[in-house]
Amino acid sequence: MEPVALHTARLELRAPTAADVDAITAACQDPEISRWTTVPSPYSRDDGSGFVELVAEWWAEGVETVWGIFYDDVLVGIVGLHRITPHPTGGAAELGYWATAESRGNGYMVEAARAVIEWAFAELKLARITWRAVVGNVTSARTARALGFRYEGLMREALTSARGRDDGWHAGLLASDDRTPVAWPIPLE
Ligand SMILES: CC(C)(COP(=O)(O)OP(=O)(O)OC[C@H]1O[C@@H](n2cnc3c(N)ncnc32)[C@H](O)[C@@H]1OP(=O)(O)O)[C@@H](O)C(=O)NCCC(=O)NCCS
Repeated sequence: MEPVALHTARLELRAPTAADVDAITAACQDPEISRWTTVPSPYSRDDGSGFVELVAEWWAEGVETVWGIFYDDVLVGIVGLHRITPHPTGGAAELGYWATAESRGNGYMVEAARAVIEWAFAELKLARITWRAVVGNVTSARTARALGFRYEGLMREALTSARGRDDGWHAGLLASDDRTPVAWPIPLE
């Protein structure tokens, strides 16, 4: 698949390239990203270049679709669909994201991920998108809730990373779901 660019009211989403390696590497020095995601820690410039090369391969193979999120041409985050699994009755994928520390709290991730979700249901013909996070990642859970995800449960030691095994919060969004946010039965306020 050719990489697809998406546009929202404030943001441009496009596949990151070699020109974005320095910005990605700088952003991934943030301890909140290494705490809650599976990006390498410590994060080197080689990690950044390896990542953009992989993103190009993933797009070509159609297995993952990853975008850099840009506000005024400045990288404010990464959002992607992982483990894309087509199926005749509608496929499935998992949503993942991180935002640069300085850009957080401006609604960028909800705006960017909403565009990704709309595109995925329409163009990839997905029936379901999954979201998972380490238990306690309230900010990510609020983002998923704002996007309309429904909380589906806690899976013990379900998430693996260099940190070891973590309990995971799981949520899902179906193509047929109303995207209006609903309450989650875990404390997020
Ligand atoms: C999760 C993350 C991507 C959110 O990015 P963002 O651009 O700040 O998100 P938005 O501004 O679109 O806000 C999304 C929701 O998070 C809430 N939020 C943002 N910053 C917050 C903070 N510091 N504390 C609590 N909630 C916060 C917003 O209020 C909003 O929820 P609401 O609609 O219920 O009010 C960002 O915090 C991040 O990169 N965290 C570290 C990496 C990570 O955890 N990735 C996800 C792994 S599962």
